[in-house]
Formats: sequence, structure tokens, C-alpha cells
Amino acid sequence: MKISIIGTGYVGLTSGTCFAEVGHQVTCVDNNPEKVKTLLDGQVPIYEPGLAELVKSNVAAGRLKFTTSTEEGVRDGDVIFIAVPTPPQPDGSVDLSFIEKVAREIAQCLTPETGYRVIVDKSTVPVKTGDKVEQTVRRYAPEGVEFGVVSNPEFLREGCAVDDLLNPDRIVIGSNDDRALAMMQKIYEPFVAPVLVTDINSAELIKHAANSFLALKISYINAVANICEASGADVEKVAEGIGMDKRIGRAFLNAGLGYGGSCFPKDIKAFIHISEALGQPFGLLKEVESINANQLERFLNKVREKLWVFREKKIALWGLAFKQNTDDVRESVAIKLCQKMLQEGAVVAATDPQGIETAKKFGDLEGDISYHADLYETLDGADALVIGTEWPEFAQADLSEIKKRLRTPLVFDGRNILDPKDAEAAGLEYYSIGR
Ligand code: UGA
Repeated sequence: MKISIIGTGYVGLTSGTCFAEVGHQVTCVDNNPEKVKTLLDGQVPIYEPGLAELVKSNVAAGRLKFTTSTEEGVRDGDVIFIAVPTPPQPDGSVDLSFIEKVAREIAQCLTPETGYRVIVDKSTVPVKTGDKVEQTVRRYAPEGVEFGVVSNPEFLREGCAVDDLLNPDRIVIGSNDDRALAMMQKIYEPFVAPVLVTDINSAELIKHAANSFLALKISYINAVANICEASGADVEKVAEGIGMDKRIGRAFLNAGLGYGGSCFPKDIKAFIHISEALGQPFGLLKEVESINANQLERFLNKVREKLWVFREKKIALWGLAFKQNTDDVRESVAIKLCQKMLQEGAVVAATDPQGIETAKKFGDLEGDISYHADLYETLDGADALVIGTEWPEFAQADLSEIKKRLRTPLVFDGRNILDPKDAEAAGLEYYSIGR
């Protein structure tokens, strides 16, 4: 199939590349000429395991190309995916201006001679956005143009995006247009995954409902963790015990500092806003947000309690990215933790396997902070080690080396990645979440 993708962010670039990988002919469009140049030079502007290799091989095979021209995208793709940002607005609603602009641009490139086109929304959008896209294209396209609109939400996770795209749990295709649905099913034929066909509103809603449910699982286990702490139970055992029930499942029951990233915080806010706009306020999600915000404060209090004051204390901070396997620091709880400690006068020596450069650029970190590629270097003379991100490198660290290098052997593990018994056996005074 001939596919175009408008927007080469996480979702656009990885899905375009994976469509090419399964044999489709893909044109990726981005209005940022520098980004397109970088991609044409064979470089990938984001860190995502496995992606750079796939971009290279598919460009070489002639199945993947990059351009700044929407016109070229509309000409070359029978199916045109919209994968542009849908950022939050201060009131929690979603800024849909990029989607609207792309819908207009697509409309203005269509002519009756172009032939039937499918316009697919892949970005996370509020329910009923598809209707607006359809109206906009109809309004701005010349008369006689034929097109169908589809919602095809993306469920990839950063850090394992390529695998999530090539081996998805499910594919959701929502449309009220049979011709569009048939073309979408053809696109997904090479993928071994169940396909759920719905109306367009349901497909849009599935994305917000899924992300909110996952965030709810995280806040649920974090609330349970606090009860564990107060009662002497172990949240890891509790998560295991409840997760063994197939109806619940163990995934997304990792207690810690709470969720961050470019999706959950924004999507939960958006879903709260959408539900209110529809006259069906979703109070449960407000509680999910509030538990999430409290996790960071509770953790900071734990550190404060032991250190007494942060001023002039040297803290080794392991983790800047919002989770493992990514360099993304957007809405990262580790970054928020770092900001707070710096504000209170701590001297922070930070490390992260991928997030140092992005933290320097986007982390808004002001104060006495130094960055270190070597995790052990951060520990020299430090008053405490604080872990903010669940990198496997941190989980496998040499505990005796940690003990040797710290000035005082205090360890605060915000992601429960170290084993408490091992930490104590190594002579560390170890604090974690819910155990
Ligand atoms: C999330 C969803 O998992 C994807 O399915 C979805 O496609 C994506 O949002 C999106 O909307 O685009 P992502 O934000 O990449 O993916 O990251 P997750 O792996 O979901 O982690 C989100 C946050 O939750 C991280 O801060 C992570 O540390 C935290 N988390 C995750 C926990 O605190 N506990 C857990 O058990 C799991």
C-alpha cells in the first residue's frame, strides 16, 4: 500500500518506519526542514532502540522517504496518517490546532483527479475529533473530492516502540466508511494481531480510556504501597499476589514515584476535561492525578526526614528520563525530583544512560548540578543516593561500590529496583516505596 505520514515525532516516525518494514511504500512528511535533512542524512533525532537501523535499511530499500511537502505526501499516499502533536492547554483541554492545520493542508492539496484518499488520525485526540476533521476537509477541499476519515489510535510505548508497533496487542480501526475500513485492513494484513473495527467515536475513546486505566493501575498500587508502608506489608508481594489473578494482571503495578512522560499526565487531564465537557465528570481520574502528585511529595519527605535539610548536601541522582530506555525527559518525575532538591539548595550529581543531553536542553534545571556519564562517579562524597528512574543499569549496580563511595550510606530508591535485603547486607541504609 502507498502510505503517507504527516509528522515525524515518536509516533509518526516509528509507525512510518514499521509500515515500510512490513513492505508498504511510505512517505514521511514534516514541516521542519532541519528534521527532514537529519533523517535524509540517515540520522534519527530521537533515541529509540532499534529505530535508527530500521530507518536506514528501509530508506536503502527504497520503501521509506522523507519530505517537507504535504503536497507530495497527499499525491503519493492513498492513505494519509496524521501524527502531529496534540499538546495540553492550561485548562487541561487538548490543543487541536496542529490537527486542524494539517486537515486544511491536506484538503487544499486534494483535487477530484487525486482519487479516493483515506485520512487517518493516529495522534491521541478527544472523542469526536474525527467529525471535525471530516468537516474541515470537506470545507477546504474542492468539490468532487472523495475521501474517508479513520481513527487508528497508537498504543506504542517509548523505549520499546518498534516492538510494540511490529507486535501489537491489538489494532483499533474506527470509521463509518466501509471503503476506508477495507483499505486500513489491507495495511494491517502483514501484522499478526487482532484487529478491532469500531465506529470512529469509539476508536478515539479507546485511546483515552486505555491510558487512563493504565494510569489508574499505577496510582492504585501507589496508594496500596502507602498502606503497606504504614502497616509493615511489602507492596512487591502484594502486587505479585493481586497480579496473579488473570482478571487483574501484574503489569503496571510497579509502585514508585508515579507516572510521567508526554502521554499519561496529558491524557488523564484531557479525559477529565472531555468527560466534564460531555456532562459526565470523571471524579475517579482526579483522584488518580492527586495520588500521583502525592507520591513525589511523600518521597521527598522521606529523604528530608533522614537528611534533615538539603542545603549543601551532595545528592547522587540516578535517573533523569521519565522511564527506562528513553532519552525523553518530558514530564519526568525524576526531573521534578531534581528540581525540588536543587531549589532546596542540594548539590546534585546526576547520571542517566540516555537522558543527560535532553535534561540539559529541556530539563529546566537551575542550581548546583553536574552531569556524569559514569554512575559511580556521582557517588563520590555524596550524602545520599536517590534513584528516580527504573533503568536496568541501576538495578544491576555494584552495591559494595555504592557503599564504598558514598560519604554516608543512605539510599532512597524511588522505583523499587534494588533488593532491600541485598542493600542492607551491603551496609546501606535503604529506603524504598511501600516495603
Ligand atoms: C504510554 C502507554 O503505555 C502507551 O500504550 C501509549 O501508546 C503511550 O502512553 C501514548 O499515549 O503514546 P509511555 O508514556 O511511553 O506509554 O510510557 P509507559 O511505559 O506507559 O510509562 C509511563 C509512566 O508510568 C512512566 O513514568 C513509568 O515510569 C510509569 N510507570 C509505569 C509506573 O510508575 N509503574 C508501572 O507499573 C508502569
